[in-house]
Amino acid sequence: MSGLYDRHKAVIPDWVALYYRDPIEITHGEGRHVWDAEGRKYLDFFGGILTTMTAHALPEVTKAVSEQAGRIIHSSTLYLNRPMVELAERVAGLSGIPDARVFFTTSGTEANDTALLLATAYRRSNQILAMRNSYHGRSFSTVGITGNRTWSPTGLSPLQTLYVHGGVRTRGPYAQYTDERFIEACVADLEDLLGHTRDVAALIAEPIQGVGGFTSPPDGLYAAFRRVLDRHGILWISDEVQTGWGRTGDHFWGWQAHGQAGPPDILTFAKGIGNGMSVGGVVARAEVMNCLDASSISTFGGSPITMAAGLANLSHLLEHDLQGNARRVGGLLIERIRARRPEFRRCGRSAAAAS
Ligand SMILES: Cc1ncc(COP(=O)(O)O)c(C=O)c1O
Repeated sequence: MSGLYDRHKAVIPDWVALYYRDPIEITHGEGRHVWDAEGRKYLDFFGGILTTMTAHALPEVTKAVSEQAGRIIHSSTLYLNRPMVELAERVAGLSGIPDARVFFTTSGTEANDTALLLATAYRRSNQILAMRNSYHGRSFSTVGITGNRTWSPTGLSPLQTLYVHGGVRTRGPYAQYTDERFIEACVADLEDLLGHTRDVAALIAEPIQGVGGFTSPPDGLYAAFRRVLDRHGILWISDEVQTGWGRTGDHFWGWQAHGQAGPPDILTFAKGIGNGMSVGGVVARAEVMNCLDASSISTFGGSPITMAAGLANLSHLLEHDLQGNARRVGGLLIERIRARRPEFRRCGRSAAAAS
């Protein structure tokens, strides 16, 4: 193993983080377990990195991928692509966004980058509201809206970003407030911020901050924000890269915990849908999605093989009610953690993996 570690360090950038002092090479997986190169078996409590949403080596996904690979692996968005259209139809229907259009990418970063392109073009502004402590990806535009310093290597950005309170319930000046007062204070902060700016394009937020420590605001915060945003014509982008596909248990999308205000204008997703294949995407109502006035293609986004995996994985998830499983198992987990550690009483929602 150390041989591979030395070779890794010799060719891979220093800033590509590795887990553990003695990094492990994962060689195979089955169900909820993985094995390393030394033959040790692990319970994969992280579900890949929130990617392997249903199971490692899920037979339906493996079959769909190998059958599609036997037909054609790649054709690009320049040609009609049946699995892509089928998955887009299903995602559009599930999104809750009326008259939805779906654009597939190869990662969550690229999905958020696309959402930023859409919002800034639609609103003709490069000003973005992001949450403190947020994480939205690795590209030049997405590190510019990432409030978590650990994951934001540069202050240079094509965007002008203003950070908003509310993503973290347990820290900061409002931490001791009741949920109701917390929301009121965050809304007042947002109103104050908007009083000194103009033409903000969008607010982007993770319903539950993942990289930022699996923390979330009280349910309803983003609905309260939405009412303010609407008055200014500002779009709401929900980054569902971690929270989509029923994984929060209570809801299919994270935004639904703030559902009184209806669906977001733009929703981004990735991770779990491909069960490890590189699938990301953006959903927006047609008026927003179609606002770009130049042509675009994606060479790899929506490739037949990743779409086949996504379709098989989504069908499995829905047919086996894995959202219900996340609710039951996540509820149990939270209950037992709370019983042992009363200081975790504010860990409101079960963010358990659906496997
Ligand atoms: C909320 C959120 N947005 C975006 C991303 C970036 O996704 P990717 O690593 O697929 O580019 C991540 C990745 O962890 C994420 O957690």
